[in-house]
Amino acid sequence: MTQAFLDGRARLQGRVAVVVGGGGGIGRAVSLGLAGAGVNLAICDIDGTALAATAAEARELGVAVLAMETDATVTAALASFYDEVGRTFDGIDILVNVVGGVKRGRFMDSTPEAWQADIHRNYVYVLESIHRVVPSMIRRGGGSIVNFTTIEAHRGAATFAVYAGAKAALTNFTRSLAVELGSQNIRINTLASDSTPTAGNMNAISAELREEAMAATPEQHLGGRRMYIPMGRAASVDDLANGVLFLVSDLAASITGTTLHIDAGTHAASGFIDWPNGVGHLPAPLGKPLSRLFPSADA
Ligand SMILES: NC(=O)c1ccc[n+]([C@@H]2O[C@H](COP(=O)([O-])OP(=O)(O)OC[C@H]3O[C@@H](n4cnc5c(N)ncnc54)[C@H](O)[C@@H]3O)[C@@H](O)[C@H]2O)c1
Repeated sequence: MTQAFLDGRARLQGRVAVVVGGGGGIGRAVSLGLAGAGVNLAICDIDGTALAATAAEARELGVAVLAMETDATVTAALASFYDEVGRTFDGIDILVNVVGGVKRGRFMDSTPEAWQADIHRNYVYVLESIHRVVPSMIRRGGGSIVNFTTIEAHRGAATFAVYAGAKAALTNFTRSLAVELGSQNIRINTLASDSTPTAGNMNAISAELREEAMAATPEQHLGGRRMYIPMGRAASVDDLANGVLFLVSDLAASITGTTLHIDAGTHAASGFIDWPNGVGHLPAPLGKPLSRLFPSADA
């Protein structure tokens, strides 16, 4: 009964969605979430194995699926994918641009070639993707687009500067396009997540830091999460997929040009840390946390 009530308000069943980067990680959860809601899919991914597995799972949920191995950062490859989408479906209602990511590093150690690649991967391909989809949405009488950004678009993200800049550009592009396309009933929003366990998330840091992180005990990880994340746990890929389902459904019929933060509270905290040893929330360490982090020589 409740399910039917929500389905009736969401009105997702039978729609057509494109998911760029829909094979693995967060993209897989988004694809399967949409398929579970009865949405037909066109998904592309650079990882053919993950793509085939996700496509098979989605088909088992009873929806039509077009899956095409594609590097979304290659303009011609993305165009070929969209040509195939055009031949397979009679229109597009939903677009989710998931592809994005970064390798942590200091700006002064980076090269112009690396900036171009980061900007294309986190901003330019989204412009190309949306430019291909909007005419179809106009013909359908409307549509909904979600672009994946990050908490780093909303704070000073040292060692992620080019990525943070590209995602901030994507955020304000999204807001601007929402104004431009509003009268055509096309909604466009960003979803900003913080750290969510995926392959892309682990690849963002160096192998050395990854090894150190993996060597920490479960208790240490839990302690760290409790300090940094107000809810004490990271948002899961399914939490993010649920946010996409909400934004692309008619439950969000009047929501456009905004950012949905799905991060278990880290954007709200904006640097307020829940320090251990009974000190509680403060932006900077004081008392016991301070003396443990920086033991004085004569202590
Ligand atoms: N995971 C996190 O902690 C996190 C945090 C903040 C923001 N985000 C954002 O969420 C999005 C997804 O992140 P993720 O961690 O799931 O990433 P991921 O690297 O795990 O990739 C998701 C999917 O995209 C595919 N993909 C990667 N590059 C591609 C390309 N060039 N062409 C086609 N497919 C490609 C991957 O194969 C994978 O299936 C990104 O835009 C990222 O910036 C992620």
